[in-house]
Parts: sequence; structure tokens; C-alpha cells
Amino acid sequence: MTASNLFSEYKGRSVLITGGLGFIGSNLARKFVEIGGVEVNILDALLPEQGGNAYNVHDIADRVKLHRADMRDDWVVNHLVSGMDYIFNLAGNVSHLDSMTDPQRDLDLNCAAHLRLLEACRDFNPHVKIVYTSTRQVYGKPVYLPLDEQHRVAPLDINGINKLAAEHYHLLYHRVYGTRAVCLRLTNTYGPRQLLRHNRQGVIAWFIRQAIDGEVIELFGEGRQRRDANYVDDVVEALLLAGASETAEGEIFNLGSDEAVSLSVLAELLIGLTGRGSVRSVPFPRERQLIEIGSSYSSYQKIHSVLGWRPRTPLTEGLARTVEFYRKHREHYWNVDADTVSRS
Ligand SMILES: NC(=O)c1ccc[n+]([C@@H]2O[C@H](COP(=O)([O-])OP(=O)(O)OC[C@H]3O[C@@H](n4cnc5c(N)ncnc54)[C@H](O)[C@@H]3O)[C@@H](O)[C@H]2O)c1
Repeated sequence: MTASNLFSEYKGRSVLITGGLGFIGSNLARKFVEIGGVEVNILDALLPEQGGNAYNVHDIADRVKLHRADMRDDWVVNHLVSGMDYIFNLAGNVSHLDSMTDPQRDLDLNCAAHLRLLEACRDFNPHVKIVYTSTRQVYGKPVYLPLDEQHRVAPLDINGINKLAAEHYHLLYHRVYGTRAVCLRLTNTYGPRQLLRHNRQGVIAWFIRQAIDGEVIELFGEGRQRRDANYVDDVVEALLLAGASETAEGEIFNLGSDEAVSLSVLAELLIGLTGRGSVRSVPFPRERQLIEIGSSYSSYQKIHSVLGWRPRTPLTEGLARTVEFYRKHREHYWNVDADTVSRS
């Protein structure tokens, strides 16, 4: 599908982005505003400790409809889903570490909230198209690499288990009620508008912050684990393609990249790009070691053959763009607390 065909799919349509003030959701909302002629609805509760940040949409605020509410609130969600042509369901807790310290919260945010949304769809908009963002983490420790969609699933943390359950909810509603659901298993995503306030969500984001600040980047276990990463614009393109394709319905697709690099190489790249920072190897903290998956990267062959997607942004280029963004907008991402985020 060419870009103009893809974009015309969405013109004149209504979309709901859950988690739309967060990292990936806000980049998606911005893309819809750029496409033009799309009614963009954002549902986000700006939950503390997560990536929601009103600054992410501050310059497009007059072109999106923001619903500041929780997806677990059935009154709000029932009203919102009716009339939508597409739902991009990105809300959730992303931190694997936090899911271990507060498993009940992860269950609420990554399972209960999604059942609530799907029930609202069943009652008020059963055939809506819904794209759910899952995670590579559902595979757990790889048995072989790169991971394809046939690889067994055996998540090593609560977050992975709940994300896997939510995938199944979406596919069940597709099978039983005709909801047009598709699941994407994202790999590490990086780019502008990601949470940088703490280091429990997104290793690349944290390395970027430390390099910009000229700090010592700590590599757990020497940083030998290899990961692939997608620049956020490429992930947004995958979301748009999955939303627009009938063939994708009822399917699970990996995203991934050809550039699987070790975390130590990634840190060195950032030190080179910023001209600042250094690295030090440290032992794994116990809470991280317990859920560590080692080297993990995905094959994107299936989504390439079905939807024509492939990552377009080379790692060094994506990192350079990201560093530039945060240098310019630093004050909105560094030490803002949840309240400041809510007010900004
Ligand atoms: N960022 C990554 O590297 C990555 C990797 C794999 C999968 N994913 C998945 O992609 C999705 C988006 O990730 P992100 O990095 O943009 O996260 P993020 O933390 O930046 O954004 C998530 C947003 O969801 C909102 N939210 C959470 N629960 C909510 C609820 N019940 N009601 C209303 N709003 C709620 C939060 O306030 C936040 O703004 C998540 O589902 C995540 O699991 C992300």
C-alpha cells in the first residue's frame, strides 16, 4: 500500500487512541493530524509513573479531542467507543519492574482495563477495528533467534503475562463477537516523547538521558545482551498499516529490526553522538536479574510479507533525531513530576 493510499483510508474517519498522551500514542496522534481530515480522540488518564505527558500534544491540542479519563471507567468508555471507526489501544503499564513490585496494578491496567474496552465495543460498536500493542516480552527467554510468531510464549514477568492475556482477549472478541482486532508485538521502541523521568521504562530512553547529561551509563552484566529497536515513526507506520488492512484482522505480528546490537554498543553509539557520557559494567541488581531475558530480537518477516512493513529508520539516524529532540525539549521530559505533567 502506498503512503497516499494508506493515508486516504483514514481521511473522514474517527479514531480513538487509548494512552494517546503517552510516547507512542502521541506520535500516532500527531501523524493523524499531519494526514488531516481525521477526527482524533485521545483517551488518557495521565497516570503517575507512566509516559503520559500533556506536552506531547501541546502544539496540536486544538486539533485533537482529549478525554482525560480512565479506560476502566465504563461510563466514559461506553460513550467513547460508539461512533469510532478505529481504536488504537495503546494504554497500559509498560514497566516490567513495576509489574513485579505491584502485580495487582499491572493486572488492572493491562488486563481489566482492556476487558472493559472490549466489553464496551461488544455492546456499542462490535465490528470496530481495534489495533492492540503487545510486546516481544511475551516470548520470555528466547529458545532461538530471531523470534518469529511461532516461538513459544513463556513470559518471565507479570507484565508479559498480562500483555499476553490481553492479546488473547482481543483475539477472542474477534473470533466470538466479530470485533476486527489485530495485535502487534512491539520490540524496544525509542524516539521523541518517551518517558525519561525514571529508569524503569525503556532502557534506550534512559541511556539517551544519561548520555545527554554526560553521566556514567551503567551496563548490567557488561551489556552483552543484544536487542533490536524500532524508531517510533516506523512503529506508527506499522499501526497505520495494521489498522487499514482487512487481512491483518485476527492476526498477531512481530515488529523488529535488522540491526540487533548489544546494549554496550548502543551506549557507545550514544556517547559518540552526544560527545558525552561514559560506561561502567555493574552486576545485575537482583530484581532485574530475576526477569532478565538475555539477548532478544524479532523477525518482522510476517508483517513484511502481509502488510509490506519494514523498519525504515537506521539506528544511528533515529538516535541522532531523538537526541536532538530531547536537547531542545529537555525541560518537559527530565524532572517533571506527574502533577506538572498533568498541568503542562
Ligand atoms: N515503548 C516501548 O518500547 C514498548 C514496547 C513494547 C510494547 N509497548 C506497548 O505500547 C503501548 C504504548 O507504550 P508507550 O511506551 O507509549 O507507553 P507510555 O507509558 O508512554 O503511555 C501509556 C499511556 O497510557 C495511559 N494509560 C495507562 N493506563 C490507562 C488507563 N487505564 N486509562 C487511561 N489511560 C491509561 C498512561 O497515562 C500513558 O499516557 C503499551 O501498551 C506498551 O505495552 C511499548
